[in-house]
Amino acid sequence: MAEMMKINVEELESGMIVAENIIEPGSERVLLLKDTILDSVMIFNLKERYNIDTVYIKKTFSASTVSDEMRAEINIHQSLSTLKEVFGDDDGAPITEFTNEASQHIKNVTNDLITSLYADDNILLKMHQLQSYDDYTYKHCLRVAMMSVTIGKSLGLPENKMHDLCEAALLHDLGKRTIDVDIIRKPGRLTDSEFAAVKKHPQNGYLLLRKNGRYTEEIMNAVLMHHEKYDGTGYPLGLKGEQITYLARIITVADVYDALTSNRPYRQPWSVAEAEEFMMGGANTHFDYDIILAFLNAFAPFPVGSTVLLSDGRKATVVSNNTNVLRPVIKTEDEETIDLYNDFKYLTLSIKALDKSEIKEINV
Ligand SMILES: [Fe+2]
Repeated sequence: MAEMMKINVEELESGMIVAENIIEPGSERVLLLKDTILDSVMIFNLKERYNIDTVYIKKTFSASTVSDEMRAEINIHQSLSTLKEVFGDDDGAPITEFTNEASQHIKNVTNDLITSLYADDNILLKMHQLQSYDDYTYKHCLRVAMMSVTIGKSLGLPENKMHDLCEAALLHDLGKRTIDVDIIRKPGRLTDSEFAAVKKHPQNGYLLLRKNGRYTEEIMNAVLMHHEKYDGTGYPLGLKGEQITYLARIITVADVYDALTSNRPYRQPWSVAEAEEFMMGGANTHFDYDIILAFLNAFAPFPVGSTVLLSDGRKATVVSNNTNVLRPVIKTEDEETIDLYNDFKYLTLSIKALDKSEIKEINV
């Protein structure tokens, strides 16, 4: 058992690990479980909301001694719980105001994500860990931000634009939290009036940010235009080509791919092969062609280290990626190394899906 120490809440730092369950004073309720990695929101709540004085922390870990990879993992956890705080649950009260505190939280998450992106190439593996059945808006926004910055890096965006891109992607669906949850979550077809309500979410998000007063036109426009299509058939403005801002065109690609490959109440997720085919088919109509190219270059649907299910029923681990990202080099559970792209002996063997049973889901 790792050694622990009792410390005052004032000395807590993000990244420290809870050594014993933290119980709400005067009740039996567990506030944080043993082994939870603390983040700034949790620390704030312990201090301000629950008046906790001291906490048992594992001695073996501290924020200053974690590796880059672990730091990246901590950042994702921290980002998710901060976003949950900002967005609230989808079935909670609708958002009517975007406060300065909320915008500061989004800035912090942006800094953490961009640090993670440069510290850990496997950020996309962590993105898959965020996929779950109860798919809240804040989780979707985090995945879209992670994918948007990955595409942005591949496009060679300068760092200040990467920050704008990340903030806009994190906030792109903020306006969904102004719409009746029964419509957002409705399984099956929407009526015309319900669909009209959903289509208001880009403007509603834009208006919340404008009222906040801290956002540049560039970020607000990316939120407003994330449902525009390159050929002018999108909404709300029906803008075409380069009339749609560059950041919005990147977020659209990440958003659509994420929507296709995620669970929805009314359908199963598409396979990555089907989704990639759809994305390629939409280049120059729905999407900006160059951004689709960057997406295909940057995005490995089966990241190195992930476990996949093969068409012959075996499981395998991805060792490296090929130019055809759907056919990487893999190592099967019986230790056979197979190059699915270059070794024609294996033409009939394919990857059916990522093995999500292996994935430790990140939840807050
Ligand atoms: Fe949206």
